[in-house]
Amino acid sequence: MTLAFDSDGAREIERLYSTPDIVRQRAEVLALLAPRPGERILDVGSGPGFLLEDLAAAVGPDGAAHGIDPSPAMNALAARRAGALPAVTLALGTAESLPYPDGDLDAVVSTQVYEYVPDIPRAFAELRRVVRPGGRVLLLDTDWDSVVWHVADRDRHARVMAAWEEHLVHPHLPATWARRLADAGFRVTAQTAIPILNPRFDENSYSALIARTIAAYVANRGGLTAADGEAWLADVRGGDYFFSMNRFCVLAEPE
Ligand SMILES: C[S@@+](CC[C@H](N)C(=O)[O-])C[C@H]1O[C@@H](n2cnc3c(N)ncnc32)[C@H](O)[C@@H]1O
Repeated sequence: MTLAFDSDGAREIERLYSTPDIVRQRAEVLALLAPRPGERILDVGSGPGFLLEDLAAAVGPDGAAHGIDPSPAMNALAARRAGALPAVTLALGTAESLPYPDGDLDAVVSTQVYEYVPDIPRAFAELRRVVRPGGRVLLLDTDWDSVVWHVADRDRHARVMAAWEEHLVHPHLPATWARRLADAGFRVTAQTAIPILNPRFDENSYSALIARTIAAYVANRGGLTAADGEAWLADVRGGDYFFSMNRFCVLAEPE
């Protein structure tokens, strides 16, 4: 079962994505997307609305910053954060069926979302439909094989990571982007990695918070117990602390 983006899940993501690691990641995403005043931009799976708020500031009152998300709890957080900005609209919906006319948008951005989307060919066909000729698409997702976490019990760690892969539909999506985007009628113009590095323990870091989520998620999955999850959490926090992972970004434009 994938992660639930209900009100508890939405608040957890909001806290996680307020850490300096993800604030830095958003700044890099914005720099790559380079939104301009007056542009019409869609954020697919806009979640708590952090990026939407930044996009609205960049496009200004003459542009549009659309957010779409299937989770009412996420949209409520986004409305509170960015709903009053003149460029912002929020809709309930999914990546597989975008409620925008053909060629309506200058750009579409989506961070940490397509890894949860079951039907990627359909979702990429929708992306291709709504982006205007000469427009651009920026996607960011994780490959969970990119994680380096220092632990004493590597065997248990491997079992925890395997169970955690069930929290999303595509744990290794970025490696397939180029082919899948080409199949949908896009040309990839850039690919880049954005590392997250936590070389020491800090309660307000991405890795400290996601570790708690992972420990709770893996309880009673893949042959692991709640005690296994807690023991793994103590293991990553004990001794020498070290965490690193990559987010991957792709920029593409319609062929
Ligand atoms: C990890 S959160 C990322 C939120 C936001 N993009 C960010 O980076 O702050 C994943 C989001 O994807 C949304 N989501 C899940 N399945 C989706 C789908 N099929 N189409 C669009 N959004 C989806 C969830 O509701 C959630 O808000």
